[in-house]
Amino acid sequence: MIRLAVRVRRADAEAVLAELLELAPNGVEESEDGEVVEYAVYGAPGELPELPDVRAAAGPALVEIATREIPDDWYDGWKRFHRPVDVGGRLWVRPPWEAARADRLDVAIDPGQAFGTGAHHTTRLCLELLLDLPATGPFADVGCGSGVLGIAAAKLGWAPVVGLDHEAAAVEAARANAAANGVQLEVRRWDARRDPLPAAETIAANLLRPLLRAVAERLAPPLPRHLVASGLLREEAGEVAAAFAARGLRERARREAGEWAALRLEAPRY
Ligand SMILES: C[S@@+](CC[C@H](N)C(=O)[O-])C[C@H]1O[C@@H](n2cnc3c(N)ncnc32)[C@H](O)[C@@H]1O
Repeated sequence: MIRLAVRVRRADAEAVLAELLELAPNGVEESEDGEVVEYAVYGAPGELPELPDVRAAAGPALVEIATREIPDDWYDGWKRFHRPVDVGGRLWVRPPWEAARADRLDVAIDPGQAFGTGAHHTTRLCLELLLDLPATGPFADVGCGSGVLGIAAAKLGWAPVVGLDHEAAAVEAARANAAANGVQLEVRRWDARRDPLPAAETIAANLLRPLLRAVAERLAPPLPRHLVASGLLREEAGEVAAAFAARGLRERARREAGEWAALRLEAPRY
């Protein structure tokens, strides 16, 4: 097993992370050392992102890229980075090897090769904003990754719930996670840049800025009642809110964590 670490300047680290997550959608290990932040991914040779792509993702923030072989029981070490997340005192999003809590709605997520353990700021912000909404009617999780948002939505009461992603690995992971959580989730492949948006009363879209803009541009009536948009750097939130406002969805709430921001948008009749 190989550990590929990219060390970058702290000032630009969150922007680099956004790029790296495109290359390593099931997440990266993060550690800090003074003014340097290190992001690491694990995989067999051939499974890891290509070095030129990693270099391009880091851009001028790059300090160093290092690879080293690690023992094959790496997965047990990797598991330490997937910790349960308590969202709003209502949802307990946990990896399958951690215990459920009787006083929380339980969402057990094995990310497999897909993004979405619940621990990433962008996912958690989405879940927090969803907790503020009435959990009724059809729900679409666009860019579903592991299915974490759609599964949480089904547990909260939305139905029917659809999960959409362009990655086959995400579709597979979301289906398996839905079954493991005992919820109904229709999961299929879908490309945010090409395919029509699903008709849903509530849409959760944890996608990065360019894809959120693509979604905004293709929004057409009937508008969703609520749309939660995440995967934005703080400084991108205003621009994306404006793109949705131009299509008739106005900003009702914004949450921030680290360098990330998420928006709750609403159709005007509500
Ligand atoms: C940041 S992850 C979000 C995963 C999960 N919904 C969460 O909140 O943790 C973004 C997801 O969007 C998917 N994605 C990226 N580009 C896409 C596209 N053009 N069409 C559909 N899905 C896409 C990725 O495969 C990834 O699963």
